[in-house]
Amino acid sequence: MSDALFETTEKKPDLSLKIAGVHFRNPVIAASGTFGCGKEYAPFFDISLLGGICSKGLTITPRPGNTGIRIWETPSGLLNSIGLENPGIPVFLERDLPYLKQSGAVIIANLSGAESSEYIRGAELLNESSVDMIELNISCPNVKAGGMAFGLDPGTAAALVAAVRRVCVSKPLIVKLSPNAPSIGTVALACIRAGADALSLVNSFKAMAIDVTNKKPVFDFTTSGLSGPAIKPIALRMVWELYDTLKESNMQVPIIGIGGISCANDALEFLMAGACAVQVGSATLVNPYTMTDIISGIIQYMQNNGIFQIGKISIRN
Ligand SMILES: Cc1cc2nc3c(=O)[nH]c(=O)nc-3n(C[C@H](O)[C@H](O)[C@H](O)COP(=O)(O)O)c2cc1C
Repeated sequence: MSDALFETTEKKPDLSLKIAGVHFRNPVIAASGTFGCGKEYAPFFDISLLGGICSKGLTITPRPGNTGIRIWETPSGLLNSIGLENPGIPVFLERDLPYLKQSGAVIIANLSGAESSEYIRGAELLNESSVDMIELNISCPNVKAGGMAFGLDPGTAAALVAAVRRVCVSKPLIVKLSPNAPSIGTVALACIRAGADALSLVNSFKAMAIDVTNKKPVFDFTTSGLSGPAIKPIALRMVWELYDTLKESNMQVPIIGIGGISCANDALEFLMAGACAVQVGSATLVNPYTMTDIISGIIQYMQNNGIFQIGKISIRN
């Protein structure tokens, strides 16, 4: 065996990356609302293998979430109407964060609120905590107030991002975009101008189901959010187009791709489309090992293709 060949087969792919100055050991992140507070998955695998973990959408005070049916399966997808059930930021910080931090994965607090002042108070608390990053959720489709209402219009989104940015001085700010916005690119550019360090997309698509036996919508809230494999090709297209929009505007920030990612191939598609990392949600609810399988699959792909740095997977450069 020649020295050169020996060197090639021995070289380990480097999956690490930085987003807004924060070091991730790999680009696979647990998506908000689908990974509990981490402990639930510890019986299945070592959660320190993950690149990052997003918390459930957090609000200042605890929320019970929506009444009625909350999860409804559809062909290749999942409708949810959880409605931001969470223990409140103070409980998260005291009860859940110490456990999550032990993992060494990047801990991202997903922040929500009914109104601007609630987001700001939440951001103030998180800014003083040991979370590594904040993901501003302006895209939740299944709450009455706040959430997606902030993410559809560029002016409204920018005003919130600017207000949160003012108090969020020591944490990088990711803004999670809604696929339901009439122009995602315009909202994205407005968020960057207002101070977003990175963007994640997509949250779930506003959708619904009707119970034909009872002749009424399945969900008390009528509409819900569609996620899972059914949305992947659309989410991928949105990441691809957003990459172009940011490049053309000379306003490139890291993009985190989300939407129906269920296997290494799916994750590779998003990395090729211009995302620097991915979040995995619904697929984890079906198979708890999805994310570790994806990490192994990416390593395998890189080895098979002689790629040694994760950033080199992109086909957009
Ligand atoms: C049960 C459930 C709860 C969710 N809760 C949140 C949340 O609290 N905050 C948020 O930003 N996104 C939430 N999401 C959206 C996911 O983080 C993700 O953006 C979306 O499901 C698309 O990814 P996927 O197809 O891999 O699930 C939730 C999704 C599901 C299925």
